[in-house]
Amino acid sequence: MGRDWDERAGVLAAEAYASGDPNAWFDRLYGEGVAGSISMPWDRGAPHPLLSDWAAARAAGLADGARPGEGRRALVVGCGLGADAEYLSSLGFATTAFDLSPNAVATARSRHPESEVDYRVADLLAPPAEWAGAFDLVVEIFTIQAMPDPPRSQAIPNIAGFVAPGGTLFAVAFRTDSDVDETTGPPFALSAATMRSLAGDRLEVKGLESPRPELWRAVLRAPAGG
Ligand SMILES: C[S@@+](CC[C@H](N)C(=O)[O-])C[C@H]1O[C@@H](n2cnc3c(N)ncnc32)[C@H](O)[C@@H]1O
Repeated sequence: MGRDWDERAGVLAAEAYASGDPNAWFDRLYGEGVAGSISMPWDRGAPHPLLSDWAAARAAGLADGARPGEGRRALVVGCGLGADAEYLSSLGFATTAFDLSPNAVATARSRHPESEVDYRVADLLAPPAEWAGAFDLVVEIFTIQAMPDPPRSQAIPNIAGFVAPGGTLFAVAFRTDSDVDETTGPPFALSAATMRSLAGDRLEVKGLESPRPELWRAVLRAPAGG
């Protein structure tokens, strides 16, 4: 069936935007995937290649058998069905992963019954207070670009807020070369300025690249002292 859910995503998103609750469509779409009336949205059985390539490059200097995440905490934003969270867990990170959609979280849990990942239903617009500054690695792939603005600009500062002192934020989004984000979507391709705004007033942009022409990959760091 491939991406037969794309058209349905557009219909449900338009309904949600008209109703004034722009995030209401995600759980409905996953629910239709669970029911089998469409194939499961955003269904990938492997980590995003931009994440696994980046993590592999960082692990290259480690001693044989050493896991880069050992003793460290990771958070996956908008985790969907859990492929990126399971990957980080396999690298040794104590991993928390959250999504707004109860259907997505239930599917991620049932697909990975032996998982050590702590899957949670949570809203990036109102995240649990205990996540503030708590994670050595925060991974955000395709969540903020799936939102119109508002609420995108309200969501962005919350992501930097999860990063612990000395920690890293890794983000991937569709790219526009315009100075402004696309206003039709989803997805809403993001400008370089929006990717840089992930830094807020605390993180530093260490890299903003396009390993694939249509995508941004951003790496940001929090200073060790705060
Ligand atoms: C385009 S999908 C990407 C899923 C996954 N990150 C991936 O790369 O396959 C966007 C995801 O963000 C989730 N999401 C949207 N708004 C959210 C919010 N406010 N809080 C948490 N998750 C949200 C959706 O339910 C969906 O799983």
